[in-house]
Amino acid sequence: MQDFTKQVVFLTGAGGHIAAVTAALFVKRGAKVISTDVSFSKHDPSGIDFGSNPVQIHLDVTEKNEVQELIGLIIRKLHRLDVVVNAAGVLNITPFLELSETEWDRVFAINVKGTFLIC
Ligand SMILES: NC(=O)c1ccc[n+]([C@@H]2O[C@H](COP(=O)([O-])OP(=O)(O)OC[C@H]3O[C@@H](n4cnc5c(N)ncnc54)[C@H](O)[C@@H]3O)[C@@H](O)[C@H]2O)c1
Repeated sequence: MQDFTKQVVFLTGAGGHIAAVTAALFVKRGAKVISTDVSFSKHDPSGIDFGSNPVQIHLDVTEKNEVQELIGLIIRKLHRLDVVVNAAGVLNITPFLELSETEWDRVFAINVKGTFLIC
């Protein structure tokens, strides 16, 4: 596998299975890893320890301001961002005729718009 030394890798949904394993693999291959998830505890941006690897940061991918603030902070602190992994997502297995508009909007806000905002 490729050597990611000095590269900065940013993941969403890193409280979940796919991104947690992916983050560990990137750390093993030398990357500086920023793991984010809506389930991680909230910290004041000034309290984030960018020395740890992976750095774990709260982020809701549907919150545009939160996304912009965090990406800006990463660029200011680490001066680069090489890899983005959009793994935040929800899967709702509901029969179509029972699916509410509210749930449709929630799934699309996370899986589709969240990915757009991060990119
Ligand atoms: N595991 C599989 O086999 C598989 C297969 C195909 C697709 N997927 C999809 O890939 C994605 C990741 O899979 P997984 O198995 O790691 O899922 P997972 O449920 O273990 O992890 C998803 C993570 O996304 C986070 N999340 C939910 N809403 C969020 C939000 N608004 N902002 C930030 N984070 C949020 C959750 O807290 C969770 O930690 C999911 O969308 C899943 O549906 C998974």
